[in-house]
Amino acid sequence: MAVAELWETLKQAILAYTGLSPTAFFTAVAVAAALYHVVSGIFAPPPPPRQRPREEPEAEPLPPPVQLGEVDEEELRQYDGSDPKKPLLMAIKGQIYDVTQSRMFYGPGGPYALFAGKDASRALAKMSFEPQDLNGDTSGLGPFELDALQDWEYKFMSKYVKVGTIKKAPATEHKPREVSSEEVKEKEATADAVSAES
Ligand code: HEM
Repeated sequence: MAVAELWETLKQAILAYTGLSPTAFFTAVAVAAALYHVVSGIFAPPPPPRQRPREEPEAEPLPPPVQLGEVDEEELRQYDGSDPKKPLLMAIKGQIYDVTQSRMFYGPGGPYALFAGKDASRALAKMSFEPQDLNGDTSGLGPFELDALQDWEYKFMSKYVKVGTIKKAPATEHKPREVSSEEVKEKEATADAVSAES
């Protein structure tokens, strides 16, 4: 049989090349393999450290922006970041944007916290942090300032969600001043005196 013949040839080859009986030869090979395994285990480099779980907690997803509709400036001030449960809002040209995602800019302690809860049009147009410019009054701005403001508006429109508009304070009607009857009499007396003189 072919297998028996192969085995006989192998035994003779082992004996001829190593001088060992097949049993002694296979025992020596097994011992050498075991020894290699043990020794290489001792000198093997340590396994790579397991990836440590991240220590910083995952940032909570931001709640979706809430549409406010029309609010007045007083109401807008509540969204200046002092209440962490409320969104951070900021307005440009009367349009209110949810800037909660940029809390590092507009939140308490942030470099632009003073704009939060306000219409910052004038400050942005003039690149100013002065308290008197922290409002939405764009009157008297020059063409370059208006251009800069427009650029800010485009930036906000593309980056943030618009959530409302600032309710304009009702324009003070131009009512004629009420004049008291005493004042009328006084005026008439003066007018009479003037006409008597002439
Ligand atoms: C030395 C002067 C200034 C430097 C170096 C500076 C630097 C920066 C930087 C690096 C950013 C972040 C930009 C980004 O990642 O999108 C930024 C954002 C901003 N800067 Fe300034 N800035 C300066 C002056 C000003 C002034 C004078 C104003 C307005 C009065 C201003 C208003 C803003 C605003 C509103 C943002 C945030 C924009 C957003 O919400 O994406 N900065 N600034």
